[in-house]
Amino acid sequence: MSVALPIRTASLILRPFAESDFEDIAAQMGDAGVTRYLYWGPRTREESRIAFEKRMTGNVIAPGVDYIALVIADAATGRFAGEVSLMHMANPHRNGEIGYILHPDFHGRGVATEAATAMRDIAFRELGLHRLTAGCDDRNTGSWRVMEKLGMRREAHFVRNEFVKGEWTGGIIYAMLDEEWRALQA
Ligand SMILES: CC(C)(COP(=O)(O)OP(=O)(O)OC[C@H]1O[C@@H](n2cnc3c(N)ncnc32)[C@H](O)[C@@H]1OP(=O)(O)O)[C@@H](O)C(=O)NCCC(=O)NCCS
Repeated sequence: MSVALPIRTASLILRPFAESDFEDIAAQMGDAGVTRYLYWGPRTREESRIAFEKRMTGNVIAPGVDYIALVIADAATGRFAGEVSLMHMANPHRNGEIGYILHPDFHGRGVATEAATAMRDIAFRELGLHRLTAGCDDRNTGSWRVMEKLGMRREAHFVRNEFVKGEWTGGIIYAMLDEEWRALQA
């Protein structure tokens, strides 16, 4: 059974992407600050269009669906605040991955934590995930702090292991198991 959309949290609405979101997502993907610690970007408009089309297809939350991408909108104003995604959800080991990228106007307000918490709960409660992971560049403190606020454990710190955007960078992996999620709810 699919999860009804949109999802409402205390101050956010998580909803499927619509054509009218393209300018906002293109601005976000084209921002050098936003993409500083990502593998990709800043993206051109054309590159953003390709990535946007993929998001337009990830609009159903249901068991067996591999990729889900939702717009994070500010509930008070309706403004586009970023995106949150679940990936690899259909893998046979029931391991999935969560990701989040915020529009620069919405950094540092708890938005990523609030949106990702709602998606974490759906991943375990509705989709029956066994393990949820998240990863980031080891210099991306804001990102791994969100993972910690979700109750995830740091499982790995790879030291200067990848050559990204012209330099050796390290990576951090966090994870949470279904039993850890249940203990957190109790
Ligand atoms: C990383 C990102 C998602 C954080 O989102 P956010 O909504 O600003 O995060 P929150 O406000 O929920 O903050 C979570 C924690 O991280 C801390 N934090 C947020 N940004 C930070 C930064 N730039 N430096 C240090 N700490 C930061 C917050 O203080 C908070 O911790 P606290 O409660 O202990 O104070 C956002 O900055 C972003 O979209 N960055 C660009 C894209 C990106 O890197 N995405 C992650 C890909 S792995």
